Amino acid sequence: MNSFEYCCPTEIVFGKDAELKAGEKISACGAKTVLVVYGGGSVKRNGLLDRLCKNLGDSGLKCIILGGVKPNPVVSFVREGIKTALREKVDFIMAVGGGSVIDTAKALAHGLANYELDIWDDIWQKKVEIHKTTPIASVLTLAAAGSETSDSAVLTNEETGQKRGLSTVLNRPKMAFMNPELTYSAPKFQVACGISDILMHTLERYFSKSRDNYMTDFIAEGLMKNVIQFSRDALEKENDYLARSEIMYCGSLSHCDLTGLGRQKDFSVHKLGHELSGKFDVAHGASLTTMWASWARYSYQTDIDRFARLAGALWQVEKNDASSAALEGIARMENYFKTIGMPTCFSELGIGVQNEKDINYLADMCTDKGKKMVGNFKPIDRQDAINMYKMAN
Ligand code: NZQ
Ligand code: ZN
Repeated sequence: MNSFEYCCPTEIVFGKDAELKAGEKISACGAKTVLVVYGGGSVKRNGLLDRLCKNLGDSGLKCIILGGVKPNPVVSFVREGIKTALREKVDFIMAVGGGSVIDTAKALAHGLANYELDIWDDIWQKKVEIHKTTPIASVLTLAAAGSETSDSAVLTNEETGQKRGLSTVLNRPKMAFMNPELTYSAPKFQVACGISDILMHTLERYFSKSRDNYMTDFIAEGLMKNVIQFSRDALEKENDYLARSEIMYCGSLSHCDLTGLGRQKDFSVHKLGHELSGKFDVAHGASLTTMWASWARYSYQTDIDRFARLAGALWQVEKNDASSAALEGIARMENYFKTIGMPTCFSELGIGVQNEKDINYLADMCTDKGKKMVGNFKPIDRQDAINMYKMAN
């Protein structure tokens, strides 16, 4: 087991009406003016935004509302939002939505506390390391990205087509209000994207060169089995509280680092997928399921036994030959994604990446024109990325 230091300080308030504790808890932090950030309007239409603002107001908090975050959130929105937050003397940020809204809140928080820096050129490009931020909380409406407890945030620069993450302990929100009922209104495709992303956050930690990490393996395998088991009910019955609770809880556990403690992360599939979202603006979860099987078939010989173990743990695959078990496990996972309605190749994703030029562009973006390797389980160079994108075609 690798040495590690771990601190996930986010206070989680989970269950029915969890969001109604927001006013009291944020006010207890000494906040006065809360920037309430939301997305394309789902929380307005279902009344959640009004309910929340009333709750914050009842606790004596002033609310400044900022709507319009798009999926695959963009840096220009954050730049404008920072100006509003500065003007209104905001001292707390509340995200109401999924990963895109929470990531935007994280970026706003950093930009507000470090207003002399540019959010993309300085902070996101890691030219300057930041040491302070503004406290944030989230009311989660979609179990997916895990941003409600994670130490990362992802933004897209629409001018350059780059979709890039920033990892820092400052990204861990102060609180997360998690009411599974708030996910009932999410479109089925988004629920499936979320389920895929949750699985992927654990898979990207499971495939690692670090060995001898038994507890972490059991947590990871247990979480993935649970997600697969409850995903069917979560998708088929939109008001199934148990299924939505299990998926929501797994979403946070999957990406708060618990499923990978004591080992190095990989996250190659995320990198390959982010380039698809950067160029084609596709949903994050869909970008991952499009690339996973290609990545897995390309990489499995790096550690055949590891893939065979996963096949046994998730799909009860038993074979004398580890290589056949590994490949059978990959096919079963790919088929699972199909059964929950997720794309597993470019044509199913609905994007036309047929020519060399597009593939080379994606590989260049992924590896910084061949200057950087991606991941560490099977480190990927530019040619590997080209080969994997071609396999996904
Ligand atoms: O914008 P609204 O109107 O709210 O609609 C959203 C959006 O269209 C809708 N939605 C969410 N909850 C809903 C709902 N519609 C009706 N009822 C509800 N209850 O779903 C759509 C997608 O929302 P989004 O926030 O984009 O989804 P998700 O949570 O999957 O977040 C994806 C973003 O998170 C990043 C991704 O790259 C992507 O940009 N990630 C962030 C991570 C992190 N911060 O740790 C890690 C992840 O790996 C990921 O990269
Ligand atoms: Zn993800």
